[in-house]
Amino acid sequence: MIESLLKGLAVLEREALDAVATAGDADTLEQVRILYLGRKDGKVSAILRALAELDPEIRPRVGSEANRVRDVIRDALERRTTELTALAGRPREGPDDLTLPGRARWVGGLHPVTRVIDEICRIFASLGFTRARGPEAETEWYNFVALNTPLDHPAADMQATLYLSGNILLRSHTSPVQVRVMERHQPPIRILAPGMVYRRDAPDASHLPAFSQIEGLAVDGGVTFVDLKAVLGEFAHRFFGPETRVRFRPSFFPFTEPSAEVDVSCIICGGSGCAACKGTGWMEIMGAGMVDPAVFEAVGYDPQRYTGYAFGMGPHRIALLKYGIPDIRLFHENDVRFLEQFR
Ligand code: PHE
Repeated sequence: MIESLLKGLAVLEREALDAVATAGDADTLEQVRILYLGRKDGKVSAILRALAELDPEIRPRVGSEANRVRDVIRDALERRTTELTALAGRPREGPDDLTLPGRARWVGGLHPVTRVIDEICRIFASLGFTRARGPEAETEWYNFVALNTPLDHPAADMQATLYLSGNILLRSHTSPVQVRVMERHQPPIRILAPGMVYRRDAPDASHLPAFSQIEGLAVDGGVTFVDLKAVLGEFAHRFFGPETRVRFRPSFFPFTEPSAEVDVSCIICGGSGCAACKGTGWMEIMGAGMVDPAVFEAVGYDPQRYTGYAFGMGPHRIALLKYGIPDIRLFHENDVRFLEQFR
């Protein structure tokens, strides 16, 4: 009994919706309304009225279904009325061109550099690194002096740095966050600090005056270069793929000793040599090293008690390598045709 009632309602619903959809003018539509929802003889109205005679056990189920069908038909009638009114007010030259493509809604996405930053942060988060941040307008103390970089060092030069006023400048790297974190916290420390940095560089295919860096710092009793190699090796495997090899080349930074440039085997050719790695088989992805004792002294840590490592990488650069993009300026031209490729 209940089955056949529900099936009957379903048939009525389909019939009514068909009739609404094919009604071509207001009069026809009004006849459809009377046929189904008319107060006296409407087919759905009749069912609603007859509910009172139904077995109380099935009444609620049939009742709510009948109400739903009534509402659906009412909504469809309303929509079709609006549609017909709009159509009537529009000059028509012929039938609508149903072969026109639909209008897709524009969907935004994350910037490719943001994606790279998020992925790097996720990997290091799983290795126990928390996120830290510092201001983009820094003092000479945080950007240079506390990092064992005297102000007459070439890096502190007005030619390389964007000074705002007096001793305030736009940070030229994220390393000052190391100092700010160590001033406020005692070891053990394991942080990752992504952010923008600024240099007095003219934009070209591989330089921007504003770009991103991610700083890493780990300090504790007994931290060694082995820990640095292990963490960066793990990162490279997870980010660039399990085949990736990592190599450390001796280098110099005032705030690390020893210091290294970190290369990964070319992610395009796998190390055999190609245009992307200029035939070397390697791609440089970051600077790193063991925290210089002079930095520990600047923040009041005992260099006899603690050791640590630090590293700094550039997500803009890494995104260039990862996606094989020829010009870093493409990231900030805001050309949707370029950005869309990374959705
Ligand atoms: N701050 C360095 C740069 O901007 C990178 C770096 C960070 C090197 C930490 C060593 C340790 O080039």
